[in-house]
Amino acid sequence: MSTELPPPFRERMLGLFEPCVLMVMAISHYIRVCVEAIKRGEVLAPIMQTAKLRDEAFARFWIAFTTSRQPPATTPNGEPTQVEPAGSSALIPPLLKTASGVVLDIGPGTGSQMPLLRSPAIKAIYGAEPCLGLHKAIQNKALAEGLSSKYHLLPCSVASSELLPALEAAGTGVADAHKANGTGIFDAIICVRVLCSVPQLERTTRELYALLKPGGRVLVMEHVVNPWRTAKGSIAARIAQGIYQVFGWSYFIGDCCLDRDVEGALRGAADEDGGWESVQIDRSFEWSVMPHISGVLVKKSR
Ligand SMILES: C[S@@+](CC[C@H](N)C(=O)[O-])C[C@H]1O[C@@H](n2cnc3c(N)ncnc32)[C@H](O)[C@@H]1O
Repeated sequence: MSTELPPPFRERMLGLFEPCVLMVMAISHYIRVCVEAIKRGEVLAPIMQTAKLRDEAFARFWIAFTTSRQPPATTPNGEPTQVEPAGSSALIPPLLKTASGVVLDIGPGTGSQMPLLRSPAIKAIYGAEPCLGLHKAIQNKALAEGLSSKYHLLPCSVASSELLPALEAAGTGVADAHKANGTGIFDAIICVRVLCSVPQLERTTRELYALLKPGGRVLVMEHVVNPWRTAKGSIAARIAQGIYQVFGWSYFIGDCCLDRDVEGALRGAADEDGGWESVQIDRSFEWSVMPHISGVLVKKSR
């Protein structure tokens, strides 16, 4: 449970507009991509090839966004910059530093979390990233972090119908046991800011559960629907989430939904199997348009 105090009223109200910055950035990339397609002579592309253009625009937006948040490598004095992550990003390092064994990273984006995955306890990392425009950035990051030999980039969605064939195609044998007798594959599954975007959330979380080894762990850090009915939630933030959705948030930001009960879906994923061994989930920023959950769900060892 979160123990943080909400900021003063004025700050909370201003916070309602923070996602506008992201949305304006995403829309401007989308418009640019459409204009470029038209200039290339693909006049009907904005109507006939929306999936392709949205994918391209999201990739550019996410690369620009993550780059804008990276501190410069050195200070003006030439010393290496040491900036602690702030806001919701501060929730990620304590979680990811516990990853070990064979790891699935869903939707790695530009690979921003890779510096947190350099532990020798990690044997292999499989990154399932359907947005092809982000692949070059992920490959470069793996190289820069010295993870190229461990990192297997899969050009697929997390849906089992795509993920399992992609794992097989990786040729590492990781999916063999699952194919033969349905046993789990992964020691850890990383879900950082991605379950907001996957299609069919409940189905996806059940499929992920099935891919965990006994004792395997889901490491989760996600933004979720505002818990406005609870004392710490906010009706204003919940309404703002609805407004952003209506004005195209999901369309422009890679299918991201602001109003998902990700915690409920994750908790429910183990129901048919008698529940999780343990669930430790904290909530943060519950007053805001982007309340977050972070924590670990452990599958029974049996
Ligand atoms: C908001 S970004 C987060 C990226 C990264 N996890 C991070 O924390 O920087 C969401 C990522 O999820 C990916 N994504 C969207 N739908 C997905 C799906 N069905 N399966 C796997 N990844 C997906 C997007 O392409 C994008 O890279």
